[in-house]
Amino acid sequence: MKEVGKIWMNGKLVPFKDAKVHVLTHALHYSTAVFEGIRCYDTPSGSAIFRLPEHVDRFFRSAKLYSMKMEFTKPQIMDAIIRTVKASSLKECYIRPLAYYGYGTMGLTPTPNKVDVSIACWEWKMGESKAGKQTGAKCKISSWIRIDSRSQPMQAKAASNYANAALARVEALKNGYDEAIMLNHYGKIAEGSAENIFVVKDGQIFTPPLSSGCLAGITRDSVIQIIKSDGMELTERELERDDLYSADEIFMTGTAAEVKSVAQVDDVTISDGKMGNITKTLQKSFMDVAMGKDERFIQWLQYV
Ligand SMILES: Cc1ncc(COP(=O)(O)O)c(C=O)c1O
Repeated sequence: MKEVGKIWMNGKLVPFKDAKVHVLTHALHYSTAVFEGIRCYDTPSGSAIFRLPEHVDRFFRSAKLYSMKMEFTKPQIMDAIIRTVKASSLKECYIRPLAYYGYGTMGLTPTPNKVDVSIACWEWKMGESKAGKQTGAKCKISSWIRIDSRSQPMQAKAASNYANAALARVEALKNGYDEAIMLNHYGKIAEGSAENIFVVKDGQIFTPPLSSGCLAGITRDSVIQIIKSDGMELTERELERDDLYSADEIFMTGTAAEVKSVAQVDDVTISDGKMGNITKTLQKSFMDVAMGKDERFIQWLQYV
């Protein structure tokens, strides 16, 4: 990681190297943190943050689900995100707001501790989300079941959800795959380890409903709105494992992944193993929107 720019911590921009926490920070021990992942794109009209208000709304929703008392308002956090991006001098970056129960009392109950908030951004590199962008990703149905809202609030983008996701990701990589697909407790498709999932069959597009336990992805929502605005149909319904094996196309969506195709699930090749036409079209449409080339969705960009 290139240490460039500054990190915003509880209202102050501090040098990258100095953004430190105490080893007895509550979240470090008990996973009591929530976060966001946001992209800033280098568009022809300048750097623009994609769907900033929606990300900040989700950030506050996540915090509420963990009883966090935020010392900052949504407009203050939006302003802080813009300031952090400006301070980085990066034209294109990944932005990571984080709220966590900090250092104070040590014990399971987090609420006596202050909620610290930080915002970092760093140079965007495609890295681990590369698979599926040009050629389709190879995915493994995970043996780890997606945790669900009987155990934890899944509409929170909470650090604690990601131990489950990381186990699935590591299992997939160790077995020679690029990514994991997780089933829920009912055996239905939930999502990837850090992406939502869509299936195309006979020209129709399907995605699991939020009740599957998947995150309410902002890219998922963007792609659904693009699909509808383009006059195509989308159905939210429970998906079985065999819906994947027999799909004509599968694609995944996420802030890091954007729109990426899936060429293989377990040992089954999806269709002819090449990126399908609907996936290709949506990949291009989404990038046009993110780069400010589609007037219909220009309000999704916050120019820095
Ligand atoms: C578990 C999970 N599902 C889905 C997504 C996609 O959400 P978004 O499009 O808001 O990035 C993410 C993003 O990080 C995720 O971690």
